[in-house]
Amino acid sequence: MLSLQRSLWFLKHPKLYPESIRKVNRKIQTLLFPSRVTHTAEARAKAQQEATQWCEQYAIDTQSAILQITGCTEFDSFYQKFSEQLKTSETIVEKYAVNMGGCGNLELIYQLAEYIQAKKVIETGVSYGWSSLAFLLSLKNRQDSMLVSTDLPYAFEGSENYVGCVVPLELKSLWKIISYADREALPQALKLLPSIDLAHYDSDKFYEGRLWAYPKLWEALKPEGIFISDDIHDDFAFRDFCNSIKQQPLIVKDSTDSGNRYVGVLVKPKTITA
Ligand SMILES: C[S@@+](CC[C@H](N)C(=O)[O-])C[C@H]1O[C@@H](n2cnc3c(N)ncnc32)[C@H](O)[C@@H]1O
Repeated sequence: MLSLQRSLWFLKHPKLYPESIRKVNRKIQTLLFPSRVTHTAEARAKAQQEATQWCEQYAIDTQSAILQITGCTEFDSFYQKFSEQLKTSETIVEKYAVNMGGCGNLELIYQLAEYIQAKKVIETGVSYGWSSLAFLLSLKNRQDSMLVSTDLPYAFEGSENYVGCVVPLELKSLWKIISYADREALPQALKLLPSIDLAHYDSDKFYEGRLWAYPKLWEALKPEGIFISDDIHDDFAFRDFCNSIKQQPLIVKDSTDSGNRYVGVLVKPKTITA
């Protein structure tokens, strides 16, 4: 079952009861049918190993991916362009000193948002808000732009206070966070932004969760819009989704202090052939 501390945290947050029920259900299924489910620790470790090999086979680096999509051989690096803001944001995170997981591929996010001059963006998964910051630093240059983010806060006391903390106040007018699990939050996000230029997925890391959300984001994406999913090496959800829509993804390898991770990118064709 869920640890006592996490269970108490969920109990104190009635708006998250649907997600706690799903979590308990998942645990019960794991106990009753361990060989049939995809979310046991063993099944997930095996899936991750196989999916990582698949990613590695096709992966290119971030610069090559940006070049392939945008055709630009030279661009101002996100990290250099916003070094002052990033330093300020780092200081905030150091002050909080809680582990809220890693961040998306910020260079890729920023350059692609700039390339398509994105105005309407949905992202899933905020945590400290690094990917949100990269989006907002691009969106702020365009009128009527908006970022809608879904986020289920981490299950510990006070975690909500850290969500999005790296984003400065002056960017928050372009931003709406829907603080529920994706299953509740994504339909609300899509009501606010039914047609989007860019989607970034970085929330529920279970196979079923991804395969539930990916098609909804893809459907809302405009022709020539861009779909990015983080951590696609966790399992074969991204590969299976690409196969289901008959699209060839770019797989981007990003080497971080905690090892390699892979990001999947799809550019929606102008017209989709059945
Ligand atoms: C890896 S972090 C996101 C990092 C962020 N994109 C960045 O670049 O800084 C994942 C976030 O998704 C949230 N999350 C996990 N499961 C979720 C779910 N089912 N629905 C919505 N958010 C979820 C986590 O609590 C966490 O805040």
